[in-house]
Amino acid sequence: MSVRLLSPGDGDRLRQMYSRLSRETLYRRFHAPHPRVPEWTLDLLLGVERYNGESVVAVARSEIIGHAMYVPSPEGREAEVAIVVEDSWQSKGVGVLLLSELAKRARKRGIESFTGTVLAANLRALDFFLATSSKVRYELRDGSYLLRAPISGDSESARCSAGERRPEAIANEPVVRSISRGGSQR
Ligand SMILES: CC(C)(COP(=O)(O)OP(=O)(O)OC[C@H]1O[C@@H](n2cnc3c(N)ncnc32)[C@H](O)[C@@H]1OP(=O)(O)O)[C@@H](O)C(=O)NCCC(=O)NCCS
Repeated sequence: MSVRLLSPGDGDRLRQMYSRLSRETLYRRFHAPHPRVPEWTLDLLLGVERYNGESVVAVARSEIIGHAMYVPSPEGREAEVAIVVEDSWQSKGVGVLLLSELAKRARKRGIESFTGTVLAANLRALDFFLATSSKVRYELRDGSYLLRAPISGDSESARCSAGERRPEAIANEPVVRSISRGGSQR
């Protein structure tokens, strides 16, 4: 298994991965009961560079089995993240590798923190983000956790950063846009 940047030729492979996801995983990723991912959403996922974002994929035996992406805020100091790992590959360390690669790339572009939205019932994803960055701040709002975590400059680290957990409310207004649900932020 390897992690690399999404390339223009990955369209079919990415479509195939999203078509293999269980309904539950799709719901956790897009926060909507899609039986399958709409084509317009796939177009957005494939064209994230139009929003100055980046996408990375995990590849095993030539198939994409995980996808993570970020889209920076207009001022460019933070970026919203979304991530999914194919059902049969979950809990095997793929998510950590994807997030680590994404954080490394974002940091090089001057992005200092990641934000994200996790459904309140999605305790696995909440555990995942708390495990990948112990400086995560989170706030429960309208049935979802709004997360914010600084990105470590340490490219050797598989974690976004290290330190003390901060379960209090996020200090600043969270930058959370519809891109995490597959919508456009602009
Ligand atoms: C959230 C998600 C991306 C995590 O990816 P993953 O490859 O399963 O996670 P990893 O195997 O890298 O796990 C990293 C850490 O997260 C935590 N974690 C992962 N799966 C967990 C589970 N089932 N229960 C509790 N903690 C879990 C653990 O702390 C784990 O560290 P450990 O392996 O040292 O114990 C994946 O479960 C997923 O695709 N979920 C559906 C989509 C989603 O919820 N996306 C987030 C909103 S955009």
